[in-house]
Amino acid sequence: MTRAISLHDVSKSYARGPRVVDRFSLDITPGEFLVLLGPSGCGKSTVLRMIAGLEDIDEGELLLDGEHANHWQPSERDIAMVFQNFALYPSMTSRDNIGFPLRIESPGADPGPRVTATARMLGIEDLLDRFPGQLSGGERQRVAMGRAIARHPSVFLMDEPLSNLDAKLRNRLRAEIAQLTRELGVTTVYVTHDQAEAMSLGDRVAVLRGGVLQQVGTPREVYALPRNVFVAAFIGTPRINLLRGLVRAPLDGAMTVSLGKQFLRLPEPLSLDHQLLRVQQGREVIVGLRSEAVRISPTFGFAHAGGPPPHSAARPGEVPLTGLVEHVEFQGHEVLVHFDTGSRPAVVPELEAPRPAARPPRRRRREGVTVLERIRERAGSLRAGPVVVLDRPAAPDEEAAREPAPPEGRLPGDLVVRTTPDIRLRHGMQVPLLVDLAHLFVFDQHGDRVCPSPDRLPDLGG
Ligand SMILES: Nc1ncnc2c1ncn2[C@@H]1O[C@H](COP(=O)(O)OP(=O)(O)OP(=O)(O)O)[C@@H](O)[C@H]1O
Ligand SMILES: [Mg+2]
Repeated sequence: MTRAISLHDVSKSYARGPRVVDRFSLDITPGEFLVLLGPSGCGKSTVLRMIAGLEDIDEGELLLDGEHANHWQPSERDIAMVFQNFALYPSMTSRDNIGFPLRIESPGADPGPRVTATARMLGIEDLLDRFPGQLSGGERQRVAMGRAIARHPSVFLMDEPLSNLDAKLRNRLRAEIAQLTRELGVTTVYVTHDQAEAMSLGDRVAVLRGGVLQQVGTPREVYALPRNVFVAAFIGTPRINLLRGLVRAPLDGAMTVSLGKQFLRLPEPLSLDHQLLRVQQGREVIVGLRSEAVRISPTFGFAHAGGPPPHSAARPGEVPLTGLVEHVEFQGHEVLVHFDTGSRPAVVPELEAPRPAARPPRRRRREGVTVLERIRERAGSLRAGPVVVLDRPAAPDEEAAREPAPPEGRLPGDLVVRTTPDIRLRHGMQVPLLVDLAHLFVFDQHGDRVCPSPDRLPDLGG
C-alpha cells in the first residue's frame, strides 16, 4: 500500500518565533520519490516531522490519501522514518533491531519471516546476529533501513539518511535506496541539502529556502528552467555563473546585455525569449550562464599556434566575450577555468559558504586601471580580442569600488568555464570566448527569471 500526501498552506513556528515553514503547499502522488532540498535551517526536517506527526501544524492542512490528517497520531499514519543518526538499540542484534517495530505492532506474531525477507532484500542476512557495535557505518545504515522497510509502511520519510557516511558508500547506498523504494513502490519523501543527491534520486525535487517553497519539478526541469536565481545557483555543478548586467534596448539599435565593460549583443531577429527582455530596458539584471553556455573560441588555438584564425568560429546564436585567465582548476577529465571578464558577480548570500582558495584571492582592480587596460597590458603583442567597450559604461568604476569585497576564500574570476585538459591555459592569458545565447538566463532585480520566459515554468505542484 502506498499513500498520497498533500500539504496545503502549511505554516509552522517554534515558541512564537518567526515562521520556519511558511505557507508550504505540495501534492505528492502515491509511489513518488520526492526530494526536499535546501540549505541548512530552511525547514526541511520540520516539514518531514509535520508529515510524520512529530510536530504540530500551526496553520494549513495535511491530507493523507485525501483525508484531513493534522491530528492523527503518528502511529495512525503508517509512516516509517529514517533519520540521519540512525539510532539502533546497541544491546539488540540486527535481527532484533529490525524485528522490534514488528513486535510492537503485532505482539503475538513471529517477526522472523519478515525480518529474514527484509534482510535478504538488503543483502545483510549474514549480519543478523551481530550487534550495532560490530557493524560498519554502512551496514548499520542498512539495518536502520531494514527496520523501516520490514513494517511495510505506506510512506517512507528519510531525513539525510546518508550524511554520516563517506562519499563512496553514500553513492552506493544512494543507488540502492532509489532501487529499493521503486521496487517497493512506497511514497518516499527524502530530505537532503546535497543537490547532486537530490538530482540523482528524485522523481521530483522541491527546493526550499527560508521555509518558503521555491520550485517543484523533475530534476531536469529545475535545472533547465529554474524559477529564480536561488534555484539556479543551488542546483548544478559547477555553480552557474551569475553576473550583474544591464539591458539596453535602443529603438534604433540592437538589444544588448552589458556585463561591466563588455556586452552580449542579442542576435536579430530577437527570439521570443529575448523580446521579453525589452521590459527590462535600463534596468540592472542578473545574467546566468551555466558552464555549457560558454566555450573557448576555436580561434584561441590558432592565435597561439601563430596561424590564421578561422573566418568565423561562432555557431549561430553564439556571441563573443573576452576573458582573462585568473585561475585554472585541474580536475583530471576536465579543467575549470576562472576568467575575469570585467563584470561584477551577483551573490546569493545563503550560498556563499567560503570555498577553499587554491591560492589567495587577487585584488580585482588596481587603482585607476580598468580590466580592459589590464587585458591589453598583459596581452602584449597578441591581437586584440573581440572586446567591445560601451560608450557610457553601465557600471562606473566608483560604483564597482563600492561593491562589497568577494567573501574570503572565494576563488578569483567572475566566470567559470569548463574545458578539456588539452587546452593549455596560463594565468594572465587573454582568451576569446563564445556565449551560446540559447542558454542565456536573465533574472530581474528580485531574482525572478525573466528569460527564458517564466511562462515556460514547469508544473509547480501544490
Ligand atoms: N525544536 C525547535 N525549537 C526551536 N527552533 C527550532 C526547533 N527545531 C528547529 N528549529 C529551527 O527551525 C528552523 C528550521 O529547522 P529544520 O530543522 O527544519 O531545518 P533543516 O532544513 O532540516 O536544516 P538542516 O539541514 O540543518 O537539518 C531552524 O532555524 C531551526 O533552528
Ligand atoms: Mg534537518
